[in-house]
Amino acid sequence: MSQDKKPHVLVTGGAGYVGSHSAVALQNAGYTPVLVDNLQNSNMQAVRGIQKLCSQEVPFHTIDVRDATRLHALFQDFIEAGNPIRGILHFAAQKSVGESVNHPAMYASNNVGGLGTLLHVAREFEIRHIVFSSSCTVYGEPVHVPVDEGTPFQEAESPYGWTKQASERVLRDHAAAQNQERIALLRYFNPIGAHPSAIIGELPRGVPNNLVPFLTQAVAGVRDRLTVFGGDYPTPDGTCIRDYLHVMDLAEAHVAALQWCFAQKTASSVVRPFNLGTGKGASVLEVIKAFEHVTGEAVPYVMGERRSGDVVSIWANASRAREELGWTTKRSLETSLADAWKWQQTLKRE
Ligand code: UD1
Repeated sequence: MSQDKKPHVLVTGGAGYVGSHSAVALQNAGYTPVLVDNLQNSNMQAVRGIQKLCSQEVPFHTIDVRDATRLHALFQDFIEAGNPIRGILHFAAQKSVGESVNHPAMYASNNVGGLGTLLHVAREFEIRHIVFSSSCTVYGEPVHVPVDEGTPFQEAESPYGWTKQASERVLRDHAAAQNQERIALLRYFNPIGAHPSAIIGELPRGVPNNLVPFLTQAVAGVRDRLTVFGGDYPTPDGTCIRDYLHVMDLAEAHVAALQWCFAQKTASSVVRPFNLGTGKGASVLEVIKAFEHVTGEAVPYVMGERRSGDVVSIWANASRAREELGWTTKRSLETSLADAWKWQQTLKRE
């Protein structure tokens, strides 16, 4: 139990990729993160990294968010210690599209069931400030780009996508049933990179699905080469376009969103979605070129078949986050890729 008097904020999935960086950003902003994680897809290396970057004892508990009894005991402990948990950043969830197709019930249980349990316990303790880790996947193949928060959802393309749509619905219903809930739904575009210290970063389990971890592993020689999934899309260079943002920019958005939650004063509940991206799209080939330019390393790659389920082009209209959260991305694509490479080199040395 931490003894400091800074406000405590629960960070579920605190040992994961976005959770760990957000914990550091929270601490930088004057909060004490309370990390919980079931360590199913993460490990203690991230927790040690957070402790090092925060230069203080950061509370960590191995808890699965579906375990209502242990969550209850945790909230109770902080009340008894005189500094209750004031808000929640909820990251704990699974995020692999392919895995979700093979294990849809597991995704429903972890992602939707976990959220339900967490909210049920939070309600008992009257914790009303909640920042939720959503995804641009909720939009499916968008009818126009850039997408703003009013863009209608398409049918989910995968069980994973459905869990994010369903979770947003659960949060809206939770808020509608009560007063004074303050909930931010953060729809991430494509987070990449690592903390500039390279003390924490992404630790993909097995073969990475995502572009940048695969790319850095290919350059490091862990993989033979990167396959570019499709060169015949209707885009200027034929490859898919995404909105890549630095994970520390994304982490800082969570602090801004939490502060936004704390600032809401209406008697009724507020639930607000925010797109988090740079507002600029980059194609797969542009990412490869930017990486080569900033690191001086050649990327071994081949053009391959399209990957099923990929949307052609998506990038964010992030003006709501700028206007209402006072947040914009500060780090460029090049900086993000340089930090991803620095992190990969750290992993290689271990
Ligand atoms: C994917 C998910 C998204 C999820 C996110 C989690 C899909 C359709 N979307 O986003 O819902 O929130 O991961 O991190 O899976 N690429 C290659 N070669 C590779 C890997 C990727 O060319 O080895 C391409 C992809 O085709 C895509 C781009 O790189 O055009 C980005 O892919 P990725 O990093 O997997 O992210 P998304 O597919 O956008």
